[in-house]
Amino acid sequence: MRQVKKLGLLGTGVIGGGWAARALHFGIDVVAADVKPEMEDWIRGAVRNAEPALARLTLAPLPPKGKLTFTTDLCAMAREVDFIQENIPEQLELKQRVLGEVSQEAPPDVVIASSTSGLMPTDLQRAMRAPERFLVAHPFNPVYLLPLVELVGGERTAADAIDAASRFYAHIGMHPLKVRREVPGHLTDRLQEALWREILHLVNDGTATTGELDESIIYGPGLRWAAMGTNLIYHLAGGEPGMRHMLRQFGPCLKWPWTRLEAPELTEQLIDRMVEGTQAQARGRSIRELERLRDDCLVDIQQVLRRHDVGAGATLRALEERLYEENARATGARISDQAGGSIDAPLKLIEVQVRPEWLDYNGHMTDSRYLQVFGDATDALFRQVGVNDQYRKSGRALYAVESHMTHTAEAKVFDTLSVNTQLLSVDEKRVHLFHRMHRASDEVVVATAEQIYLHVDAAARKASSMDASVHARLDAVRAAHASLPAPAQKGRHIGMPRN
Ligand SMILES: NC(=O)c1ccc[n+]([C@@H]2O[C@H](COP(=O)([O-])OP(=O)(O)OC[C@H]3O[C@@H](n4cnc5c(N)ncnc54)[C@H](O)[C@@H]3O)[C@@H](O)[C@H]2O)c1
Repeated sequence: MRQVKKLGLLGTGVIGGGWAARALHFGIDVVAADVKPEMEDWIRGAVRNAEPALARLTLAPLPPKGKLTFTTDLCAMAREVDFIQENIPEQLELKQRVLGEVSQEAPPDVVIASSTSGLMPTDLQRAMRAPERFLVAHPFNPVYLLPLVELVGGERTAADAIDAASRFYAHIGMHPLKVRREVPGHLTDRLQEALWREILHLVNDGTATTGELDESIIYGPGLRWAAMGTNLIYHLAGGEPGMRHMLRQFGPCLKWPWTRLEAPELTEQLIDRMVEGTQAQARGRSIRELERLRDDCLVDIQQVLRRHDVGAGATLRALEERLYEENARATGARISDQAGGSIDAPLKLIEVQVRPEWLDYNGHMTDSRYLQVFGDATDALFRQVGVNDQYRKSGRALYAVESHMTHTAEAKVFDTLSVNTQLLSVDEKRVHLFHRMHRASDEVVVATAEQIYLHVDAAARKASSMDASVHARLDAVRAAHASLPAPAQKGRHIGMPRN
């Protein structure tokens, strides 16, 4: 199977648009194909709408964005891409026909995946050429922010195709969940639908409104579901003895007819209640406004979960780790390759754009963000010399013990800033460095930071010697920087006159 540089999308509606936004953001080119030419404007708009939330998801260094092209020629798309994601309407015969046609054009080492919410892969691959490269890969809306993608093979799917797809989805920041065998609705939609059927019953018989039922989720189970699923949460509900006790205590209730499996009939009255209920909940806000609110919350929730390395936050953390590592490898060659003499100038470590939420009430980048950007630059340097996740997991880390910042010019929204770093001194336990933050538009220095880091054994909570190879790489940079002029701000204390 191929390495995916260009993704083909078959059908560019809600789900196709979401795939496009996610893939482009993580550096994959996208060829979007739809029978309706007017979908070109639509998908470009969908990608634009996704950008503000995606831009906030991570500060890790991203590859250059992918390029989006559009065509109504599905077969031409199939001939030029490395991976195809099908997102046309949920109709078996239509999908079978289109997948059959497209598979004639796509080389056999091109994986073809369907976003179907519930159709079975064995049925979908019937009319295909090389059906072993086909699988279902079911994402969730908004595809650009939710990491889950369910992978389901059919009778003729090869394990290789599922593995290749899994690698690709992980590469674009997703959590591939391999479903052991095909069942209608896969896993997640079966669970969602069980809840949804009960909601329809409770609204239908007048027990609750749509708003009350949503409250029953968002103030309670919904909050814990993001960190732990139903099963682990119920394990906790059993107290010390866990799930066994939980089942003994609440198991008998399962025989009571609390919930119903058959959905109620969708009468006009029930439809009206559902529509009026959700309109009341929307309180006049448009779908776009609600989408923005949803997206902002989804980004923030994932960032909080990342701190705890749990669920979608763990996926985000793994993605960032890879992005930082790739970036370190791209620039790190300079540090391990000291003989080349290419480290004899301050190292350009990171480049970031000032985000709107980084501004203070005067419209300037707020103080704490300067420290964050300098911290990211230090992190990039340390990764380049070998202080990565694995090193930290061994219980060793470099802690900031002193920082002195100066502000020399303004940084405004969407300014591109880069940080150049000069290594002033290093010994086995200490690193002393000096950062300059430049505004890319005019190369003016907007801020500087002088920092000292101490190498610690995190478990013993004591200063300790760094790994010899880390020290050697840092020392090579120090030696190369020894002939650079000392920064004017070096060693200054607060309030010192500038001259
Ligand atoms: N909407 C969701 O929340 C969601 C979530 C997960 C998966 N899915 C699945 O994704 C698929 C697409 O759903 P959607 O909500 O994006 O639908 P949609 O109606 O928004 O988009 C479908 C697109 O397919 C195009 N199309 C129709 N026939 C075509 C053809 N023959 N060739 C190429 N393009 C064609 C349409 O012009 C349209 O742009 C479905 O299988 C659905 O089950 C949807």
